[in-house]
Amino acid sequence: MVMRKVVVGTAIACAAAVCATAALVVRHRMKSRGKWARALAILKEFEEKCETPIGKLRQVADAMTVEMHAGLASEGGSKLKMLISYVDNLPTGDEKGHFYALDLGGTNFRVIRVHLGGKDKGVTNPDVEEVSIPHHLMVGSSHELFDFIAETLAKFIHSEPEELHPPPGRQRELGFTFSFPVRQTSIASGTLIKWTKGFNIEDAVGEDVVEELNKSLEKVGLDMRVSALVNDTIGTLAGGRYYNQDVVAAVILGTGTNAAYVERAQAIPKWHGLLPKSGEMVINMEWGNFRSLHLPLTEYDQSLDADSLNPGEQIFEKLISGMYLGDIARRVLLRIAEEAEFFGDTVPPKLKIPFILRTPDMSAMHHDTSSDLKVVANKLRDILEISNTSLKMRKIVVGVCDIVATRGARLAAAGIFGILKKIGRDTVRVVEKEKSVVALDGALFEHYIEFRTSLEGALKELLGEDAAKSNVIEQANDGSGIGAAMLAASHSQYL
Ligand code: GLC
Repeated sequence: MVMRKVVVGTAIACAAAVCATAALVVRHRMKSRGKWARALAILKEFEEKCETPIGKLRQVADAMTVEMHAGLASEGGSKLKMLISYVDNLPTGDEKGHFYALDLGGTNFRVIRVHLGGKDKGVTNPDVEEVSIPHHLMVGSSHELFDFIAETLAKFIHSEPEELHPPPGRQRELGFTFSFPVRQTSIASGTLIKWTKGFNIEDAVGEDVVEELNKSLEKVGLDMRVSALVNDTIGTLAGGRYYNQDVVAAVILGTGTNAAYVERAQAIPKWHGLLPKSGEMVINMEWGNFRSLHLPLTEYDQSLDADSLNPGEQIFEKLISGMYLGDIARRVLLRIAEEAEFFGDTVPPKLKIPFILRTPDMSAMHHDTSSDLKVVANKLRDILEISNTSLKMRKIVVGVCDIVATRGARLAAAGIFGILKKIGRDTVRVVEKEKSVVALDGALFEHYIEFRTSLEGALKELLGEDAAKSNVIEQANDGSGIGAAMLAASHSQYL
């Protein structure tokens, strides 16, 4: 009897334990289903807010055209600064001699020397030295940054073989690509309006950047003349035109984004100087600062902007360029982690660190073609210290990357379409075989293939089959530095 009681008691206890475990499993499943549903809901909401159907792209392009007109009409007339570059003649290919370029504008700084050999020989022997800019110099003082530039240039020059030394009495000439908004006062001078792309050196704002560079060149005893001060978009346009006379505009898609194009001088009401012989003037749009109610902004973009070094500014750039795409994706993943416990009960601490997920890593995840998304798993583990992710989770991560990159690429296409519209090149060419080429440069465009494909697709959609045949975009490799050297040549004091 006692035995039976014990057995029955044990059986009841066992049954209760089984029931409890089953209940736990069910609760766990329900909870995880709930979390999963929450994660998918966040993703879906994000996707909807980022949508860029063709109609919206057209609105963005039209708004861009309107702002271009406003920026050309008066100084401060628009968020688009439409800066006058003082470049009214682009290289023809006839330029000759040895010229130098300094290229400052992102995380790397380059010194370049090229030999221009005229139409027959073209550009030969480009010699390039690239150094990364220590972060403290990006946010320090003006003289520290320019001293660093001058010292790097001095080392480069001092290691030159004798045959490259200029004849006595002749100065070396330099094109300075300075890829920030500058109000030019001539082809070789201009004051910095503001910093962008994570640079923040207060005492340089409002100063003439060529004078700052000259002071530092003097300190290191370099006798060089800055013959042209240009934005990277202008350098790319010049470099593109050197090889192809159909180039009408240039776009940079790199750490930052911007565009330049050839405008009719008469269409620039704010230009009070002499009418250039060519009748044309190259305009640096600074399109990174474009904004419009038509832009598909989300809460993630708003928080990225609020936390940035330049809140309220460079809104278009913050949707498109390499400096920001990875961080938008991180912000979305963080929300999914917080609200859907997507990566476990606690939020992975690394996911909270701004800019920890860089765009090249986002791109690597986006392009992962392995069946188990191994690259995604490894990046999550190595960068964010998130391990044990399931395939389903990795797919969500890829989904986030896709939404962010597609939106940026399609908006960039709308910007390009806006420029083509402004200069009347958005339709089928009346003159047969006349082409409009937009030279594109920057690591984002060059390396992020999904981004590039999406941009090209959207531009074709906007132009339509026929017009897309005569309006093309072309990769301009390393145009900005070499283009600046070409402009130094066409503005040489020895011409
Ligand atoms: C930022 C700068 C702009 C530059 C662009 C691309 O938008 O303000 O001058 O051209 O980045 O480097």
